[in-house]
Amino acid sequence: MSNPFRWLVFTLVPVILFVGISVADDFTKVDLDRWQKEYMSVVKKGRDLWVSPRLGTNGVSCAQCHPNAANTHPETYPKFQQQLGRVIPLRDMINWCILNPLEGEELNPYDPRMVAIETYISHERKGVAMAPGKH
Ligand code: HEC
Repeated sequence: MSNPFRWLVFTLVPVILFVGISVADDFTKVDLDRWQKEYMSVVKKGRDLWVSPRLGTNGVSCAQCHPNAANTHPETYPKFQQQLGRVIPLRDMINWCILNPLEGEELNPYDPRMVAIETYISHERKGVAMAPGKH
């Protein structure tokens, strides 16, 4: 490699890398606003499901026993759950309540409705300290 080229490589490559890394780490206000909006739209979807009987077959909704997600304790998951006899994530308990009190069909963990319910429950408990395994 001739001298002028070597100079170019040694100066430009670190500069390009540095600029690349700083740009990659920078979230703009537009990004943050958009992500918050997306997040809140999923919270709302979860809230709508929470108060509707759509997840079951007997006209019962989650809100009847857990108004505003009361007594769902998402911060205590994963934990040992007596009803199932093993350590489970929150979504398994959501499905337990869909199956039993609501007499509905279990949701696939990747179902957007499951994601929405998990998001809604966690949103209602925002700020509560994590306490996995707690009873
Ligand atoms: C008829 C009343 C009833 C309805 C309706 C109901 N649940 Fe429950 N839920 C319970 C009972 C009872 C428990 C068990 C409490 C325990 O032993 O931890 C429970 C527990 C839970 C827990 C775990 C709470 C904890 O402390 O670990 C979650 C999460 C939950 N329910 C979500 C839901 C969701 C989601 C729905 C709607 C699909 C729903 N529940 C509907 C009665 C109900």
